[in-house]
Amino acid sequence: MKVLIIGSGGREHALAWALQRAQASIALIGLPGNPGLSELGEVVEGDAGDHGMVIDFARREGVDLVVVGPEAPLVDGLADALREAGVRVFGPSAKAAALEGSKVFAKDLMRRHGIPTAGFEVVGSAARARELAGQISYPHVIKADGLAAGKGALIVQSREEATAAVEAIMVDKRFGDAGNRVVFEEYLEGEEMSVFAIASGERYALLPPSQDYKRVQDGDRGPNTGGMGAYAPVATWNEALAERVRREVIEPTLLAMAREDRPYTGLLYAGLMIHDGRPKVVEFNCRFGDPETQAVVPILDGDLLESLWEAADPLPRDRALPDLAHDGRTAVCIVVAAGGYPGSYRKGFVIRGVDKARELPGAHVFHAGTRRKDEQVVTAGGRVLNVVGVGASLPAALRRGYEAVSVIEFETAFFRHDIAWRGLQTLENR
Ligand code: AMP
Ligand code: GLY
Repeated sequence: MKVLIIGSGGREHALAWALQRAQASIALIGLPGNPGLSELGEVVEGDAGDHGMVIDFARREGVDLVVVGPEAPLVDGLADALREAGVRVFGPSAKAAALEGSKVFAKDLMRRHGIPTAGFEVVGSAARARELAGQISYPHVIKADGLAAGKGALIVQSREEATAAVEAIMVDKRFGDAGNRVVFEEYLEGEEMSVFAIASGERYALLPPSQDYKRVQDGDRGPNTGGMGAYAPVATWNEALAERVRREVIEPTLLAMAREDRPYTGLLYAGLMIHDGRPKVVEFNCRFGDPETQAVVPILDGDLLESLWEAADPLPRDRALPDLAHDGRTAVCIVVAAGGYPGSYRKGFVIRGVDKARELPGAHVFHAGTRRKDEQVVTAGGRVLNVVGVGASLPAALRRGYEAVSVIEFETAFFRHDIAWRGLQTLENR
């Protein structure tokens, strides 16, 4: 089986690792991949925005399955183009990826179908947005409609902050056309978590839920990032909550997408806020989370390759998706980042200690922002490495993860020391 993975981050390295674990004989190709992925297979240069090139490559190489990592190519229709060309692909169509590509679409869909989410208003002009800023309660959330690389949601504490957010998004176009419309959204209290469903039309398999730590500093302080770490499964998850998430979020969303002629095949990521045991949707994403995936795939018991293969096309009604059980362990992913991130940072520092970290029991190291330079691997991004510890309990996983982090070195490296703090708190309160 030949599998082409589109993307270049820690998520793609972790997916490649998990697919190879499922089937040792798999031939993996990363486009463009990274030095971590190149240890598992081949990497080729290329731009996923060039659909013709990806199709030609997949055909020429006899690729059996394409797995698309990031959202931009999906929203842009790469999965449609591949399917039309007869290439099997795990990932939603552009019409289905609108769940992530347009917050207005996602919110309206949830309203039409009674899926629990924060109250909201869609705003199409800066004048109306300024007016609304004088009428709402604070804190409030203002979100750009379109893709904004995870930076398009601003939590505002006052009318002044709201007005400044409107200026930045709608007038100064900080996120380009993604800010032509905004969503004003009620601020939700609670515990956030990420739930992944491998979906094929109305069939789906839930993966163990994870929790992302998005702020750059310990104590959830500082600006939002793409994610500084994650752990799975979430300690507060239980059968009753799982049931509610299935019945109130995942199933109605897949049904709604099917009814609206946008059948969903691919990974459905539900970002949830849980309050008093009740889930509300904060956002949908149309792909695996990064860095959550790095904490989820090491604790799967089952064949991820078979699941992605089966979910690549809408399944016939009588076929179930293979279950991907949780193996009972806990995993923690700690992101080692370059000083300055999520603002500007320098690149090109030599990375040491990856092999030593990997020799530790229960430790994995996935490459995120790295590059090969001569015989060395150097930093090439803000989130550089994703170090994962796996153990029988959360404390054991944390010990292994942070021990592995401690042997990794590059200039300016930093990481959060309190990943999974909520999980530890839950365990202490039991
Ligand atoms: P989004 O771009 O929608 O993923 O939002 C980014 C982050 O902002 C989320 O992961 C939450 O931590 C936070 N956030 C977004 N919407 C809300 C909301 N309605 N209430 C509270 N926090 C939110
Ligand atoms: N870690 C958040 C995301 O993947 O969107």
